[in-house]
Amino acid sequence: MVVPQLRAMAWGTAGGRAFGENGGMAQRAQRAHLGGDELEVFARGLPKAEVHVHLEGCIPPRVAAEAAKRHGATSPVTLEDGHPKIETLRELLDYLDWSCGLVDRAEDLAEIGRSTSQRLAASGALYGDVIVNPTHWPHWRERRGAMVDALAAGFTAGEREGGARIGLCVSLKRQQSERDALAVVSWLIEERPERVVALSIDGDESAGSHSGRFREAFGLARRAGLHRCAHAGESSGPDGVREAIELLGAERIDHGVRVVEDPALVRELAERRVPLDVCPTSNVVLGVVPSFGSHPIDRLRQAGVRVSLNTDDPELYGIDLAGEYVRAAATFGWGVEDLGALARTSIESSFADEPRRQAMLESLDGYLEGWQAG
Ligand code: ADE
Ligand code: ZN
Repeated sequence: MVVPQLRAMAWGTAGGRAFGENGGMAQRAQRAHLGGDELEVFARGLPKAEVHVHLEGCIPPRVAAEAAKRHGATSPVTLEDGHPKIETLRELLDYLDWSCGLVDRAEDLAEIGRSTSQRLAASGALYGDVIVNPTHWPHWRERRGAMVDALAAGFTAGEREGGARIGLCVSLKRQQSERDALAVVSWLIEERPERVVALSIDGDESAGSHSGRFREAFGLARRAGLHRCAHAGESSGPDGVREAIELLGAERIDHGVRVVEDPALVRELAERRVPLDVCPTSNVVLGVVPSFGSHPIDRLRQAGVRVSLNTDDPELYGIDLAGEYVRAAATFGWGVEDLGALARTSIESSFADEPRRQAMLESLDGYLEGWQAG
């Protein structure tokens, strides 16, 4: 996927000498900051995984518009180029209830699944852990099996066309009752849908969201061999992250960025190698951080915390994964080595099975070596 001309531009010369012609220069080249088209090409071709993206935030505007027309419904928020104008988590969650509530046909679910697999691949992602929260999809509440089957058909179609492999993280909602949460997990354990790799929890982590209520559900999932991830440190502070790890046994934290408020916890996450699935643009749009430039991702990396870059709800924000790599690199002055490290964490922390993870790491190593050899 790398355009040779741009590669030549990127690695051809530096101060009259060829990059990569000896070890020292290769080292420098590796650390060199990329820019412009060269950065875009490198980031898009970089083999990676996406581990924090919601199916609810991947509905193509065309599918949403057609469903709205069929139901005679109008968006509760202003649309700009098909993307809703959203500024808070509450508005986002209400919009998701509305848009997903329009989807009542299996073929639309399959199309959302297919396009999600394709969308990831267009950013160089080989694999995605995609979160789906059944509470947003009222037409499928009593038909969870049919919903997962329709999505799986779409993912398979997408993969056949060169899309990313998708694993599903079935999500509880923070405000759900313990009983409802246990019902979802019991269903997962009884049915064991092939696509499902993990139990997740998302939504508003503030009032009434205490992780203790979900402890048993997550314990059951762990004992049944499912992975676990949890939204925390977005609308909750560091205590939410601690609870997610200690009460829910979360292997990965979705967001987690508010741990910066607790330096001791930052050190602990670094020592315990707990990965954070960070989504900078989402955090800016929803007011978790004031600006991209002040996002704590760079400080977290410097403190040794393992972080990956993700999009959260790309269709709502009008972004894609490769674009997030580009934007973060341009903002924080990251080079080849930094973006390679982020991609490595995304793959290592993914819930892909071991052979797939190894194959992805090999692709990544090959890409980085090829790029340096120029
Ligand atoms: N569901 C979709 N996007 C979300 C977010 N940013 N936080 C919590 N739940 C979500
Ligand atoms: Zn999220």
